[in-house]
Amino acid sequence: MTLRAVVRGVGHYLPARVVENAEFEKSLDTSDEWIRSRSGIERRHFVTEDDTTSSMATAAAQAALKDAGLGPDDLDAIILATSTADLTFPSAATMVQAQLGMTGGFAFDVQAVCAGFVYALSNANALIVSGQAKRVLVIGAETFSKIMDWTDRGTCVLFGDGAGALVLEAQEGAGTAADRGILATDLNSDGRHRDLLYVDGGVSTGTSGYLRMQGNQVFRHAVEKLAATAETAMERAGVTSDDVDWIVPHQANIRIIQGTAKKMGVEMDRVIVTVQDHGNTSAASIPLAMSVGRANGQIKDGDLLVTEAIGGGLAWGAVVLRW
Ligand code: ACO
Repeated sequence: MTLRAVVRGVGHYLPARVVENAEFEKSLDTSDEWIRSRSGIERRHFVTEDDTTSSMATAAAQAALKDAGLGPDDLDAIILATSTADLTFPSAATMVQAQLGMTGGFAFDVQAVCAGFVYALSNANALIVSGQAKRVLVIGAETFSKIMDWTDRGTCVLFGDGAGALVLEAQEGAGTAADRGILATDLNSDGRHRDLLYVDGGVSTGTSGYLRMQGNQVFRHAVEKLAATAETAMERAGVTSDDVDWIVPHQANIRIIQGTAKKMGVEMDRVIVTVQDHGNTSAASIPLAMSVGRANGQIKDGDLLVTEAIGGGLAWGAVVLRW
């Protein structure tokens, strides 16, 4: 018997304020047509004063717990992937723990920018298969609107806010690719590329700073690295792209999503796409896409998913899981 980290519940939260591309035309030299054709984004959600990263994470967590039929005290751990925690410390994960009313177990943040959810899933899997935790809540939540330079048309039109969450539970499998749960993971980073995508603030500047990105350079790395990490994870899981029911990619740019699917030999009708409605929500984009894909009937019990992401660092990775 092999211990597997199996998805027991999923949920998401999006802040109420929806901003269409056309709104940027009022203040920037940009157009709905440019944003749509270069990125695939049509709209995004931004927080108002009612929401923070931790409050959105808590709402997504409550939805996932409800879907799982569990309460906060059924959890052993919370892992929250975010680059936009409410405060430098404590972790947003411990804030969620308190907001959920969970008094036991442990909670921590993972910071791998847009690859954060893949990193968090891999860490949760390690806790579960090593027997350190039976149930782990894995959340991706971001408030990128707080780190946008609203005068930089090359970045501020691309990002959005939101949160998504999964409840993972230890279940016994046969040790084959037919098992439900996480079948394989692959993580990578290369810190030599830090200047391609970073925030120009932090404790060294005394400011929270703004996101800076050489978008076309990040793009150049994205398709190749995403397809390679997905291939590695699939090989470890003992599956091929023919076996894959859904790619659930990080939602940064439709052209990256299409290019990666093509390189993997998977048609777009087997790819979950939400970038048009959410923009790039960094570590929240994958659990948001999983939750939407599950809610609209695309992802079914037993489906084989490959999820992949790349972001600042550069950091990138992939997870193969059977729902
Ligand atoms: N409206 C109109 N024109 C624009 C805009 C805009 N909003 N933004 C840039 N342009 C212009 C540029 O100034 C440039 O003009 P120039 O040719 O006169 O210099 C032109 O459009 C082309 O710019 P590029 O940056 O080369 O455009 P590209 O086709 O590469 O698309 C984009 C830009 C959408 C940013 C794309 O490169 C991309 O998606 N990159 C990857 C982003 C990503 O995946 N990030 C990783 C995850 S994010 C994270 O980890 C936080």
